[in-house]
Amino acid sequence: MDLLVVGSGFFGLTIAERAAASGRKVTVLERRHHIGGNAYSEDEVSTGIEIHRYGAHLFHTSNATVWEYVNRFTAFTSYVHRVYTTHRGVVFPLPINLGTINQFFQAAYTPDEARALVAEQAGEFDARAAANLEERGIGLIGRPLYEAFIRDYTAKQWQTAPAELPAEVISRLPVRYTYDNRYFNDTWEGLPVDGYTAWLERMADHPNIEVKLSTDFFDASQPLHKQAVVGQVPVVYTGPVDRYFDDAEGALSWRTLDFEQEVLEVADFQGTSVMNYADADVPYTRIHEFKHFHPERADRYPKDRTVIVREFSRFAEPGDEPYYPVNTPADRERVLAYRELARGEKDVHFGGRLGTYQYLDMHMAIGSALSLWNNTLA
Ligand code: FDA
Repeated sequence: MDLLVVGSGFFGLTIAERAAASGRKVTVLERRHHIGGNAYSEDEVSTGIEIHRYGAHLFHTSNATVWEYVNRFTAFTSYVHRVYTTHRGVVFPLPINLGTINQFFQAAYTPDEARALVAEQAGEFDARAAANLEERGIGLIGRPLYEAFIRDYTAKQWQTAPAELPAEVISRLPVRYTYDNRYFNDTWEGLPVDGYTAWLERMADHPNIEVKLSTDFFDASQPLHKQAVVGQVPVVYTGPVDRYFDDAEGALSWRTLDFEQEVLEVADFQGTSVMNYADADVPYTRIHEFKHFHPERADRYPKDRTVIVREFSRFAEPGDEPYYPVNTPADRERVLAYRELARGEKDVHFGGRLGTYQYLDMHMAIGSALSLWNNTLA
């Protein structure tokens, strides 16, 4: 074995694939019973509808190198992501755009009129000097839009009133003064034609790659555990950085998600893939209806049933899946201390969202793995 990769998410698989293609023998350890990290998907058994097990994953990128690379393993559908939100029983398009504004104010503003109105309403606070998230939100888009679309949704995400959250949680709130409600601004987007798991499996499908599932790097009873390999063979580690150092600098904080899945006896529950719920009286943040991610599979998917998943957000406890870094000032200090410790680890390369304590989109995880390979490991 020339390289050990801990974790089979997009970061680890990209490293493994590049190393294998250049003739190295790679072993990938994966704690879960399946490859793919959080991008893993599987078919719901009774309907055959593809479900993204760890939250909805939409691929998008403007990075030509990444786009060329991912197309070696999968084709992409022409799916274009759009999100809607329900506020006080009315559905509005997101991100906030001219359609949202005109529907909300029951008006027919031109782009300039809408821009002037929002600027006037945002004048209540200076967003740059905001003392908390609420002031910043109002300073960016004005109180009416903030209270309708941001305040309660953010409170549900953070289990904390926005007036008690630091202003840095949001740096900007994009408002589009057109009717464009494409969710992503990237050059390319789409969903893998045969699903995420087929894509991930093709990346790992090489005679030089051995994947060991249900195998934890820290389990001393398996032969490739931390003490046995570090210093003996180069390691790319994509698990949580604090766990690697036994929480020596303290545990990093994360938000997690709970998913409540239901099969319904209706053809179409909500008419779209993602519906946010902006108000405080609905406990979940959004509902995904997975058949809408693949309209091209209409022939194959059932006509009388659908699968929905309600998503709830909360602070992670020990044992929960870490999803989004909380990034408190204490977390930021700890990350710096862990980075220092990481520099002292001989031939161990920390990467991916858990290994660097960063939210990374898939194209970012793949792009940073390609950089690590090209600049350092190759
Ligand atoms: P990832 O977490 O995928 O993989 C790490 C792997 O390491 C896991 O499989 C884990 O089990 C394994 N591991 C950890 N510790 C280990 C140990 N001790 N031993 C062995 N294995 C170990 N991105 C995007 O582009 N579009 C989107 O729509 C979304 N949507 C989205 C929704 C939600 C809810 C989340 C949380 C994230 C997204 N993402 C996303 C981001 C996407 O999930 C992310 O880019 C990838 O998961 C990053 O891949 P990594 O390999 O870095 O981590």
